[in-house]
Amino acid sequence: MTTPAGRVFPAGFVWGVATSAYQIEGAAAADGKGPSIWDTFSHQPGHTRGGATGDIAVDHYHRYAEDVRLMAELGLPTYRFSTAWTRVVPTGSGPANPLGLDFYDRLVDELLAHHIEPYLTLFHYDLPQALQDAGGWPNRDTAYRFADYAHIMAERLGDRVTHWITHNEPLVTAFMGHLSGEHAPGIKDPTAAFQAGHHLLLSHGLAYAAIRGAAKRPPTIGITLNLTPIHPASDSEADAQAAARVDMLSNRLSLDPLLRGAYPPELQGLLELMLAGALHEGDLEIIRRLDWLGVNYYSRAVVRYDPDVAFVEAGPTRPVGHEYSQMWEIYPPGLYELLTRIWRDYAPSAEIVVAENGVPVPDGLDFDGRVRDERRIRYLRDHLAEVQRAVQAGVPVRGYFVWSLLDNFEWALGYGMRFGLIYVDYETLARTLKDSGRWYSRVIAANALPD
Ligand code: FCB
Repeated sequence: MTTPAGRVFPAGFVWGVATSAYQIEGAAAADGKGPSIWDTFSHQPGHTRGGATGDIAVDHYHRYAEDVRLMAELGLPTYRFSTAWTRVVPTGSGPANPLGLDFYDRLVDELLAHHIEPYLTLFHYDLPQALQDAGGWPNRDTAYRFADYAHIMAERLGDRVTHWITHNEPLVTAFMGHLSGEHAPGIKDPTAAFQAGHHLLLSHGLAYAAIRGAAKRPPTIGITLNLTPIHPASDSEADAQAAARVDMLSNRLSLDPLLRGAYPPELQGLLELMLAGALHEGDLEIIRRLDWLGVNYYSRAVVRYDPDVAFVEAGPTRPVGHEYSQMWEIYPPGLYELLTRIWRDYAPSAEIVVAENGVPVPDGLDFDGRVRDERRIRYLRDHLAEVQRAVQAGVPVRGYFVWSLLDNFEWALGYGMRFGLIYVDYETLARTLKDSGRWYSRVIAANALPD
């Protein structure tokens, strides 16, 4: 059987899946782990659907060996996960906790024993509570504490881990954590949000240097951003301008400093106000350090002018006649649009990787014990076809990671959203490979999309 050339991915294309610590590990206070802002936030009433917490999550902390075995069964060549800062440095600064470091040491060794290359994310939303109490990300000092933690991790694991991610989606931490308050720490203060965003980016650059300084094998260091094509709801000038503003604040606010070394000039007035005293000389030089860019793509946003919304004067709409998942519109061409736009507008020397892509659709065990998640397969296939289209258009996309390996704790939405290639029974924590997992495994083996 031959595969049509257009369906084949470039040689050496990196295939993987992604997870994050708080969403899967559980063991919230085991072996000296300190509390993070997500431990605090999820335990306060009203913050998560049904009062869900990550106390147990899917107990990956105790079941990591089984999970790595499942990854090996899938034929996964790489695995992207995050380390919990509070396992390693329980109060965010000061001495490391040897038991926390040991866990990640065991995990990395287990992965390598199964020929799975780790992609290690240092921060996926779970700031140490002690650092939050000292001001959190709006406090510049947090950026330096993050670099210290990066140094500890690179010193311990940098002989075996090559691929590092400093931050996952810094603007989600900044805006959902400090403006809308939907995420930990649940603050609603625009100035805090912008300052948090700046310090997160600054800490990326500081951590970049710390990893390079401490890792024994030459690292490649990236950051993953949640990027969303923003489309106007109509042809009106007001909607077009609204879309441009939202684009500036949700995409360009991190892309421009990371890939151009400057904040968008159009935001100068706003940033002078918001970052007064926070933007120091030399910061933008530090932020610009990057070997690869991780693009997290889920959907697009369609916005219309709405003067009642602060800053952006724009609100979301839901175009009719389109398909939706439990959280967003399903819009595969948005991934092509994003990848080609990054290439066209920034021509980055950093490599481009799709670091997250996936979909929450209701699924469950059928009578025979199988999970027939056809809609997830379709979602993944259609998005991978868009990655191929981008590659054919000349964008050097190096890899693709499915969100997520396992069903898990979806932040404020609790356990209601299932994103996994592996189904988790939240009562027994038993794992069952979904049809999408089997399908993905065939894609990886063939390095091509099946017909
Ligand atoms: C991304 C997050 C990830 C998960 C997916 C659905 O924005 O990085 O933790 O919540 O969305």
